[in-house]
Amino acid sequence: MAIRNILHDGDPSLLKKSRVVTDFDRRLHLLLDDMRETMIEANGVGLAAPQVGVLRRAILIIDLSKEDEQAGNHIIEMINPEILDSSCEEADQEGCLSIPGVFGIVSRPHQLRVRAQDRKGKAFEMTVYGRTARAVCHEVDHLDGILFTKLAQRILTEEELDRIAAEREGN
Ligand code: NI
Repeated sequence: MAIRNILHDGDPSLLKKSRVVTDFDRRLHLLLDDMRETMIEANGVGLAAPQVGVLRRAILIIDLSKEDEQAGNHIIEMINPEILDSSCEEADQEGCLSIPGVFGIVSRPHQLRVRAQDRKGKAFEMTVYGRTARAVCHEVDHLDGILFTKLAQRILTEEELDRIAAEREGN
């Protein structure tokens, strides 16, 4: 496994549409293993293949409903993910490993049903909620070349970021 370079906003690859994965081979497994290591190292809650320069429809997300200090983070691999239906929009803070230091308020579904394939090509469906649903939407957007800054109602100011950081320290 290796840590790959995360592309930053301004790189044209981040604005391109990724292609469907058709080969569930060693090359895909190596990509997923590298993405996992890269996401953990960067402290992310999700990562999409185009963020490491591979224009293929593959994402990883941390299932935040299953956070467990003993077992470590529960990471879900989704190949060719498709959002089937969603409900209850919720506006909340969001950031991106490709746009460090920038946070915005984005409206996302609170609950959604997603269909995807695992690394062997086996299809599965799952329902995700809250921050995990937000992460799935954010990563699926990456596969279509959409960054959260394009969808944000507004971008948080320096003062707001300082205040949030101070509140966190207080907790
Ligand atoms: Ni992102």
